[in-house]
Amino acid sequence: MNNADHKDLRDRPIRTFGRTGGRALSPRQQALFDTRLDHWRVPPPLPAQFAPDSLFAGAPPVWLEIGFGGGEHLVAQAGVHPEVGFIGCEPFVEGVAKAIAGIEDNQLANVRLWPDDARLLLEALAPASIARTFILFPDPWPKRRQQKRRLVQPAFLNALARVLAPGAAVRFATDVASYADEALLAVLSSGQFDWTAERADDWRLAPADHVTTRYETKKLGDCAPVFLDFQRR
Ligand SMILES: C[S@@+](CC[C@H](N)C(=O)[O-])C[C@H]1O[C@@H](n2cnc3c(N)ncnc32)[C@H](O)[C@@H]1O
Repeated sequence: MNNADHKDLRDRPIRTFGRTGGRALSPRQQALFDTRLDHWRVPPPLPAQFAPDSLFAGAPPVWLEIGFGGGEHLVAQAGVHPEVGFIGCEPFVEGVAKAIAGIEDNQLANVRLWPDDARLLLEALAPASIARTFILFPDPWPKRRQQKRRLVQPAFLNALARVLAPGAAVRFATDVASYADEALLAVLSSGQFDWTAERADDWRLAPADHVTTRYETKKLGDCAPVFLDFQRR
């Protein structure tokens, strides 16, 4: 390994996700992944200053879901909002295959997939090109020594703020109390977002437009789900 390789490893951001593979895909999932991903993915390589609305007919507003898991929320929101273009980011292969199935079963034309680390997409996106984003139940990394792997931290928030249009909505949800505290503090300290909650029920209850995710129903955390809605200044 030469010095350049060492530098590459040093510069790589710390990994925020767990496994990307695992169980074998079902024959249908494997076939969808092998034959349909190229149709649905955001095509690489991305040009610098990538304009995401160019992926969709009519250059609609674009909403981004980071870590869509099995894609239930992504597919449901895309069905409710045909006037919006959706990009879902998820490196977990089974989740990507499930999302392709959901897109095709529901005959959606307004979704594209980024089957990789969302932070690579954020780097390439043009400034102020995203109108809304969802970060729902990101990997909790509950042990103290793992917490550096949490997605929501200052460098990520700066990258996210750069691509969000003024006024863009951000939804963060978690059922891990220490992550809710940490994320709220990090977002507010960044000075680039306002927390839109006016009363406790605004963060204690699921917002009216929330679609329950599979992970959420497992109730693996240590508190009831907390929903933090922010607005990019
Ligand atoms: C705990 S799961 C929750 C999935 C889904 N949001 C839900 O609520 O069912 C978190 C997901 O975020 C994904 N993830 C973690 N870091 C990511 C990153 N940097 N970019 C894209 N996805 C990421 C993981 O692969 C994982 O599938």
